[in-house]
Amino acid sequence: MSSDVLFLQIFPYVAVTIMVVMGIYRNVNDRFTYSSLSSQFLENGKLFWGSVPFHYGIITVLVGHLIGFLIPTGVKAWNGVPVRLYVLEITALAFGLMALIGLVTLAIRRLSDPRVQVVSTGMDFVLLLLLLVQTVTGLWTAVFYRWGSGWYVQAAVPYLYSLFAFKPQIGYVAGLPLVTKIHIINFWALCAIFPFTRLVHLVSLPFTYVTRPYQRVIWYRRDTNRPAPNPGTLPSVSQGAGVPTGLGHSDFYGRMTNTGWQGAIHKDAAV
Ligand code: HEM
Repeated sequence: MSSDVLFLQIFPYVAVTIMVVMGIYRNVNDRFTYSSLSSQFLENGKLFWGSVPFHYGIITVLVGHLIGFLIPTGVKAWNGVPVRLYVLEITALAFGLMALIGLVTLAIRRLSDPRVQVVSTGMDFVLLLLLLVQTVTGLWTAVFYRWGSGWYVQAAVPYLYSLFAFKPQIGYVAGLPLVTKIHIINFWALCAIFPFTRLVHLVSLPFTYVTRPYQRVIWYRRDTNRPAPNPGTLPSVSQGAGVPTGLGHSDFYGRMTNTGWQGAIHKDAAV
């Protein structure tokens, strides 16, 4: 069996099977961890300068890949005019570089900050490495094997379609340069490790985050029959009222304002 058959034909099916089976398994058995656990409260400066460019860059690049995959004829038509091809390639390159800068910043943060290291898992580092390989080989392909957006739809997309149709035709990509083949194989490796990494947050899209109220009012009152007090009669936070230590035994009235949390305990409460 040739290495092309192994890595471009068999490995994709193995990887996608692992992704689907283990993804469902983790979602059912370990649902609480189905997110990208945050370390923002440990270090926020580098996180911002890493995460924001990485996400804007990689999402734009991936949307480009997806458009090429879904409407290859549209991309072919677009690239028919040279100036449009240049615009597409330069834009993709710029966003790819943006993703790389963000990714390197994130890697430095995770490797250098002792507080972040404490909450990092081995899989976090494996993921960072594979994402770096993916981004660097993509940029390498874009820079040295022009014009990638053109032959992506002529070679890579038919290859992907053939896999999805369970009639694999690796001939479309077997002759591509090694770096580009690594780009493709590494994509399947990312699929395989997907359920074991923080990438799972991709399938728990923050829909509720997008539609969240900009301000949340939290209200805890045990006795639902008792009318709410006039806020003017309540002791203020500066008078000693605050988040109660025994919510189960007290009446707590609180609200989030634009300036912060204001809470008060009803005067009858014994905390
Ligand atoms: C089988 C799946 C994939 C194939 C066939 C593929 C193919 C390609 C090709 C042909 C290019 C060069 C495009 C150009 O010259 O403009 C490219 C670029 C790139 N790819 Fe991929 N890619 C795949 C998956 C991915 C994934 C999953 C990522 C990220 C996680 C990624 C990240 C990039 C980046 C950052 C670039 C450089 C920016 C650009 O010019 O588009 N690719 N890819």
